[in-house]
Amino acid sequence: MYVAPASIGFCVSQGTPSSLLAIHVAAAVLSNDEESWKKKLAELTKEVQENKGIETIFSQDFGATEEVKNVFGFRDGISNPEIEGSGIDGYPQYDKPIKAGEFVLGYPGEAGTVKPYPQPDALGKNGSFLIFRKYQSQVAEFNQFIKENTNSPEEGELLAAKMVGRWKSGAPLPLSPEEDNPDIGEDPEKNNDFSFKNDEYGKKCPFSSHMRRMNPRDARNSVLQDIRLHRIIRKSVSFGDIVPPEITKNDGKERGQFFMGISADAMGTLEFLLKQWANDANFISLGDEKDPMIGVQEDGLFTKPSDPMVDRYHGLQTYNIMKGGDYCFLPSLTALKWISELK
Ligand code: HEM
Repeated sequence: MYVAPASIGFCVSQGTPSSLLAIHVAAAVLSNDEESWKKKLAELTKEVQENKGIETIFSQDFGATEEVKNVFGFRDGISNPEIEGSGIDGYPQYDKPIKAGEFVLGYPGEAGTVKPYPQPDALGKNGSFLIFRKYQSQVAEFNQFIKENTNSPEEGELLAAKMVGRWKSGAPLPLSPEEDNPDIGEDPEKNNDFSFKNDEYGKKCPFSSHMRRMNPRDARNSVLQDIRLHRIIRKSVSFGDIVPPEITKNDGKERGQFFMGISADAMGTLEFLLKQWANDANFISLGDEKDPMIGVQEDGLFTKPSDPMVDRYHGLQTYNIMKGGDYCFLPSLTALKWISELK
């Protein structure tokens, strides 16, 4: 069952006509169950309505299934960077924690320097920047591509997994390259505990898969040494229902994903990920091949290293269309208090 345990609303302060400053505020109401979510949302909406000068300009419900599956049916939100000093342990197979300054303002990052942040310290320190993007997902078109290029539902599941880098259960291809392993997929101790060092030709997990492009981990390639400078904390949520693989005709309904990411250099990091790793393939020697899930393309290409040759698939479309987004300042709790006490 698809539940919507949360909602997001955007408000804008109108101010007076002569006001030079209109501040956009994004607020998310999150809850574990629908009832308390609706109650909290009603309270917030009432407060906003009663407060002259604030207008709600956009509001959207979103939610997650228990397995946190996106509208393509893939478990999502598994992999996130381990942050130095967070007290959260990393995975033995993969990487050491990333310096806090890559995600939290006011602390040294991987390059040993503190990234610029809003002043004074009371406002900027301990805050961060939030990346926000709304995507419309074209799942039927994705299913159609899979159907046209495979001979059975099982083959279809394999090709879809090779494009994402994980099976729908969440099991990563480096650990389970030819068949799904739901036990690994749902086990948080196992489903992110891998590296690419035993897959140097991409025969398990293609270089071009979404997951491997977005985080090449320890893949050996001199162009990739800046991996640790381009990590983001992801907290995305889906809206709309999951489309099963047999549906290949678009029903025109709204469905997709709110992509939310946190980075101390939000714009630099996201633009790099989209430009260099999603919409180009120079870094993996595949010309201008695009990310099969988020690449912007018509009649695109997907390369899957195989035995003894590579398989090439043509005709990929843009399966997630970016509808809009923004970069927002994410103030710390101390900063919110500081702002609220300003005269
Ligand atoms: C609607 C659009 C998108 C869909 C359907 C999607 C889907 C997925 C899925 C299924 C995974 C694997 C689960 C996981 O490892 O957590 C994943 C991982 C990831 N995605 Fe996306 N994604 C989307 C957009 C984006 C965008 C815009 C970015 C950033 C530019 C991005 C960056 C990542 C990263 C960094 C990972 C984790 C890779 C890792 O650490 O192994 N995704 N995505």
